[in-house]
Amino acid sequence: MKTLVIFYSYTGNAKRLAQEFAAKEAADIVEIKDARRPVKLKAYSLGCFAAIRGKPWPIQPPEVDLAAYNRLVLFSPVWAGSPPPAIHAVLAQLPDGKTVSIKLVSASGKSNCKERLEAVLKAKDCTLEGFEDIKA
Ligand SMILES: Cc1cc2nc3c(=O)[nH]c(=O)nc-3n(C[C@H](O)[C@H](O)[C@H](O)COP(=O)(O)O)c2cc1C
Repeated sequence: MKTLVIFYSYTGNAKRLAQEFAAKEAADIVEIKDARRPVKLKAYSLGCFAAIRGKPWPIQPPEVDLAAYNRLVLFSPVWAGSPPPAIHAVLAQLPDGKTVSIKLVSASGKSNCKERLEAVLKAKDCTLEGFEDIKA
């Protein structure tokens, strides 16, 4: 099964963990970048508002073809209990029928979005293979 590690990182924690995981698994890796990186105030205000509601923000087109992989491992920070809007954007772009693992990196090691993300993936005929909260 061909694996792609996908990550978004605002301050570098998810990036480091994603890179370590990809190196260990000998998997390809791609970074998801905001179309315009939000300043801290915007991340904590509008970013969290969108994160909680599962709303996407514009992202730069991913530099690899997501459809070329069967298994996707997604590393993301937690913003207000949920993944940030850039991750909601990439979830909306996922091709149907993939096997997906989600690893959420946060200060508390807690999120509150598993069921919601599971429903998003189910609507795309994707299987949630694993879900992990990681305290960074
Ligand atoms: C806008 C914003 C909101 C955050 N909200 C939470 C939160 O709700 N719960 C938590 O445990 N950590 C929260 N954090 C902390 C990050 O999830 C944590 O520092 C994570 O490791 C950051 O990953 P990154 O360095 O890859 O961006 C927040 C950080 C930011 C910037």
